[in-house]
Amino acid sequence: MNKITTGVVTLIAGVSLLNPEVMAAGEGVTVNHLGVNNTLVRVDGGHKFLLMPVQESIDDATVNVLVDGKLDRTLSVRLAKTKVDYCVPFDLEKYAGHDVVLNIVTSQSRSSVRDVKEDACWSHFALSDTFDTTNREKYRPAFHHTPLYGWMNDPNGMVYKDGVWHLYYQWNPYGSKWQNLSWGHSSSKDLVNWEHHPVAIEPNGLGYVFSGSSALDPGNTAGFGKDAIVSLYTSAAASQIQSLAHSNDNGETFEIYPGNPVITQESEARDPNMFWNAATGQWNLLLAHALDHEMLIYTSPDLKEWTLRSAFGKGLGAQDGVWECPDLFELPVDGGETKKWMLICNINPGGPFGGSAAQYFIGDFDGITFVPDRDAEGNVPTKWMDFGKDHYATVSWSDAPDNRRTVIGWMSNWQYAAEVPTMQFRSANTLPREMGLFTAPDGQVYVSTMPSPEVETLRDRLVVRQNRLSVGKNPRKVALPTANDGICEIEFDIFARKNANVSVVLSNDKGEKVEMVYSPVEGTLSFDRRNSGITDFSQDFPSVTVAPTFGKDNEPLKVRMFVDRSSIEVFEGDGKFAMTNLVFPTSPYSNISFSSADGKADVRNLKIYSLTPMND
Ligand code: FRU
Repeated sequence: MNKITTGVVTLIAGVSLLNPEVMAAGEGVTVNHLGVNNTLVRVDGGHKFLLMPVQESIDDATVNVLVDGKLDRTLSVRLAKTKVDYCVPFDLEKYAGHDVVLNIVTSQSRSSVRDVKEDACWSHFALSDTFDTTNREKYRPAFHHTPLYGWMNDPNGMVYKDGVWHLYYQWNPYGSKWQNLSWGHSSSKDLVNWEHHPVAIEPNGLGYVFSGSSALDPGNTAGFGKDAIVSLYTSAAASQIQSLAHSNDNGETFEIYPGNPVITQESEARDPNMFWNAATGQWNLLLAHALDHEMLIYTSPDLKEWTLRSAFGKGLGAQDGVWECPDLFELPVDGGETKKWMLICNINPGGPFGGSAAQYFIGDFDGITFVPDRDAEGNVPTKWMDFGKDHYATVSWSDAPDNRRTVIGWMSNWQYAAEVPTMQFRSANTLPREMGLFTAPDGQVYVSTMPSPEVETLRDRLVVRQNRLSVGKNPRKVALPTANDGICEIEFDIFARKNANVSVVLSNDKGEKVEMVYSPVEGTLSFDRRNSGITDFSQDFPSVTVAPTFGKDNEPLKVRMFVDRSSIEVFEGDGKFAMTNLVFPTSPYSNISFSSADGKADVRNLKIYSLTPMND
């Protein structure tokens, strides 16, 4: 059973999202229509939540929260007009003992065609002491991080402290579309079991709380205490400016720095990513100069005074969309003594398969300037962290132990993130992944991406083990586990003979399938989700994505794959590529089959594990 916690109490499920069984709708709630588009909702004290009824397809109402007659904050909520899709909880606990009134303004467009009084929402406003977050959707991931409810985009501000991985994320707690951007907060001791916490940073006078970063400040350079977590984020309203905050209670609550903003720029600049640079004894910060397609590089002694030192990226790499969510860190090459810096630059649109994607540059960094590696022709190659359509805003944890560079990405794409067929929640994050660098046969250094070792603890049972399958024209079919909607991990090695293409198909009895084709001649693995299940919610969803396998001649292709209820992540066994794609089969895929129409191949070391669901 899922629960949500507030600062002081743990609330156990008891009320459905639609809350039919709470006290009669309206009890303790007084609704007073002031005019065609203006309504006051007054609530009696003594309850933990006010449940607000939402209809996803409706435009936003402006909800002004008045506390003791004064404006406390303003929310945008798609208050139900003709039907209630679900309810979202508004936390009343922090206002205990105070008078709470919502002054709600619905838009002219809806009141011009009908009177606000007729809207469905009013009779469904309800008071409650609990809020049930039990999953009731088939596509809610079983083992990926996802919010208990509401909209999520970028993971951001991630930091490791005292054995705990803190994951903050762009969150709308008041609906499953992008609005009211706050930092949601989850934490984990093992990167697979996630505990959900109250919202960490909420919109304030400077605007929405956009993406940013966090780090420990053991040298107490900012003066917030040596155990403080320090965070920088973008305050987004009429302009995009950078704000500082800190937490002295292990990331639970944050104090906003009164001297904000600490950085301003005239054109859109966002997603500050800072780290302590031990080599120079200064803080470094990268800021995405979004429309200018460059990353601004700053230094600071104390996180408050920042100096712009250089800019990287004009004219380099993919340039077709806005540049967002940077990261910069050093990694060993091929696990040896030599180190290189990896600069992450998320871009939207302009990804290789349309929409959002994460590109990166490899190079050198002296604390002031990033100098990218060039290929033999003197060009700076464009490189991608993942070769699926659903991997974005990927950034790393600060202060991870054992020199690990662990990242996580948003498993969606701005092209259709708000249209995917889910309701209680929208979006999940990828599995946590470990970054490394390897030298490919073309002489270039690329990133390697491995699922974090903790992911192995998800394994429940080894349900299939086949040492060798000879594969030809007729598909060799192997049944997938059925427990928990078939969530599983699949591993195998493909030894392709005579340059045969090998096709790997996941399918169900509805004829829905994902087809992957390994072409040893091309050195690629493709992923076709055009017939994978529900695809018609967006014309951008049906697609084929292609990954380079970076293999050497006669080397087998080692594949490791994770199938959750609405996603498939494919990794090359040593991490040479990753490919992340969403899928919405109407029933779980029940078989995997291997075939080679034009030749012969061996599939060896096939292992299929059923996995433990973490979110149910
Ligand atoms: C990336 C992004 C960021 C921004 C955030 C807002 O997905 O556009 O640049 O900070 O989302 O939610």
